[in-house]
Amino acid sequence: MIKTGSIKKIRQLVADAKADGKKVGLVPTMGAFHEGHTNLIKKAAKSADFVVVSIFVNPTQFLPSEDYHLYPRDVKKDAKQAAELGVDVVFVPTAEKMYPKGFSSFVKIEEITDILEGEVRLSHFKGVTTIVAKLFNIVQPDTAYFGQKDAQQLAVVRKMAAELNFPVKIIACPTVRDEHGIALSSRHQYLSESQLKKARGIHAALQEGSKLIKSGILDFGQVRRRIYDVLNTYGIKRVDYVSFNQWDSLEPVRKPGGKVLISLAVRLGTTRLIDNIIMNFKQ
Ligand code: PAJ
Repeated sequence: MIKTGSIKKIRQLVADAKADGKKVGLVPTMGAFHEGHTNLIKKAAKSADFVVVSIFVNPTQFLPSEDYHLYPRDVKKDAKQAAELGVDVVFVPTAEKMYPKGFSSFVKIEEITDILEGEVRLSHFKGVTTIVAKLFNIVQPDTAYFGQKDAQQLAVVRKMAAELNFPVKIIACPTVRDEHGIALSSRHQYLSESQLKKARGIHAALQEGSKLIKSGILDFGQVRRRIYDVLNTYGIKRVDYVSFNQWDSLEPVRKPGGKVLISLAVRLGTTRLIDNIIMNFKQ
């Protein structure tokens, strides 16, 4: 496995792989790998011939008030794991390389980035789409792998790739959870043991919501109230939103129909956690 921060080098490696007829898969990450990440990498290793994993804590997707400087970083450990999983290249650029002095070109997808996460994290998605567009241009992958855990990010990246004609297929991978149903996240490193226990309520609440809908409750207002109740029972008091949106346009919905994304964001201390489930209703 090759580890490089050089754009020139990565372009050459990918060009060589493509010249050999290989299909190139890209897994964009911010590192601090957990099984959510390694699952994406395994999927890429299975379906692509040449796998590139990027590790870059992207400053433009953090608000000034957020945890950019605190964000966990362990490139050495990540690279070792990537090598064991059969990754061909780990791309680890510096912030200066990705955003040289005077950098002023951004990619912004409108409307679906104004709701849910975008409502609280104002310029977050502009940072995500800018870095993902840059990675797509640098690596020029045939396939790119994203987790459903960050469902809005997945929808936004899909929309960007389609609307800006990136010749890449976006592959969605299911959310990886621990034995208590908690969706794995690099930010769990910030949580105390008691906060981690409370976090179990997130998936429990989503499951309760889905159970209610399956039992025939079609009023999303009622389902939302029940989800809040379960969160409360687990000691989660600060809820940013519980939302019902069509998957994957993210149009708000009031009643079941088609594929519905039920998503939420909560705060435990200073840590913000998100999770979601997608329910499939026959039309
Ligand atoms: P990061 O948070 O490191 O996540 C990298 C990828 O792993 C994303 O596609 C994310 O959805 C996926 N992922 C994280 N936790 C997961 C889990 N529990 N189950 C399944 N997939 C999971 O998301 C980012 O980085 C950045 O925004 C990035 C796309 C790299 C752009 O900077």
